Amino acid sequence: MAELKMTIDKSNEISKINKEIYGHFSEHLGRCIYGGIYVGEDSPIPNTRGIRNDVVEALRAIKVPVVRWPGGCFADTYHWMDGIGPKDQRKKIVNVNWGNVTEDNSFGTHEFLDFCELIGCEPYVSVNVGSGTVREASEWVEYMTSSNVSPMTELRKKNGREEPWNVSFIGIGNENWGCGGEMTAEYYSDVYRQFQTFIRGPKKIACGPNGHNTEWTDTMMKKCHPGQMQGLSLHQYTIPTGNWGKKGSSVDFDENEYYKTLSNTWYMDRIIKDHKAVMQRYDWDKRIGLVVDEWGIWTDVLDGTNPGFLYQQNSMRDAILASINLNIFNENSDRVTMANIAQMVNVLQAIILTEGDQLVKTPTYHVFDMYKDHMEAKLVYSNIENKQIYEGGYLPAISQSVSVDTEGKMHITISNASLDEEFDIDCVMPRAEYKSVSAKILTAGYKECNTFENPDAVHPVSYDEVKLDGEKLSFKLPKCSVLAIELC
Ligand code: AHR
Repeated sequence: MAELKMTIDKSNEISKINKEIYGHFSEHLGRCIYGGIYVGEDSPIPNTRGIRNDVVEALRAIKVPVVRWPGGCFADTYHWMDGIGPKDQRKKIVNVNWGNVTEDNSFGTHEFLDFCELIGCEPYVSVNVGSGTVREASEWVEYMTSSNVSPMTELRKKNGREEPWNVSFIGIGNENWGCGGEMTAEYYSDVYRQFQTFIRGPKKIACGPNGHNTEWTDTMMKKCHPGQMQGLSLHQYTIPTGNWGKKGSSVDFDENEYYKTLSNTWYMDRIIKDHKAVMQRYDWDKRIGLVVDEWGIWTDVLDGTNPGFLYQQNSMRDAILASINLNIFNENSDRVTMANIAQMVNVLQAIILTEGDQLVKTPTYHVFDMYKDHMEAKLVYSNIENKQIYEGGYLPAISQSVSVDTEGKMHITISNASLDEEFDIDCVMPRAEYKSVSAKILTAGYKECNTFENPDAVHPVSYDEVKLDGEKLSFKLPKCSVLAIELC
């Protein structure tokens, strides 16, 4: 067993880890909203005003901080007025991006904001830029957030909501370089400036680059100042094979594809650092956040499912992938202010899968649970000797991040991507004065999933192979595992 040396310097505080880094994304796509979150009041599935109680309970348990809605590509086809008022009078439309299915608009503004209140999170609403108008967007924000007397607030009250909601973030369009209008950066930046002028109150997040496109970032940063734009979004998915035409399966892959996927996911770090460098040139005091509002693994759909519904399984590979990305976001939290995994339920790297009245918490769910104490804590310096484990590209065995929360507790999250080697970690923590240690581990075969037949195949257990001795910490890190350590 190899020994790796690690250092943690608790006195070297780097940045605050915004809780929104542990955010989620839910789109009108496949069975994310309908069936996954919302089943309607008349459903035999236990619900509160149509929202599944089991889903609410699972989301409350991991303290979901923020949810982005209604899309995605759907956002730039969505006209919010279709989704308010009596349900039997709401317009039925075609969801042209996702399977051409009928969207009956029974889940609209009131239902989404009710959902956010039930799970106790902040709403992040994306307005329609691609096929919408400035007036439509500004009236939606007024409808949701204003306490003045106006036609929109009167309409809201008529629809049963007296008080405004607290909407923290507004996204101005989605992927406007693609499904949101195929705009150039030059054109979109002007459109953005116009839209944001008429949206008052919440923090405003602009459509940012597709993956590594730093030119888009440069144009946006050049043309929009921090008073106009509080966040710039970034979308970056991990495709196992690296080929959008044949992405790879979520359940049937070999060790080489496992390693390739994780190597591909490390590209997130490179991309973030390159966008950070561009942003730094224009915004040295970091008033504009980088908002990674779509990330996760995107595989081929599960056999026999609707190709437009993007339904995939979730394995131990995805848990390692989530741990790597969350550690990357923590490590870059001086600029990354929010991240939203795609998507919350039944779509892409879902934390929850549902089938009728059944619910499965995926391995990715458990990673979010194990990482939740990083929220609002201070990232502190950590370093580890590492080992490259894949000949086909960059892939260090270990990924880690360390924070100290407001009560002074230290939280270490660390994962080992190797399928061949476990490690003995020998960690020094100068000036740290902790008395006790506890830990949880998630480990399983790399392809193992939680299914409706076996929903707990992959779940965290407490782990006592961690020893604290003054300023020294030592622990074993098994193959293919995610470990969360707490020091008090
Ligand atoms: O998450 C699925 C889709 O991926 C979103 O609708 C879009 O924004 C992205 O291309």
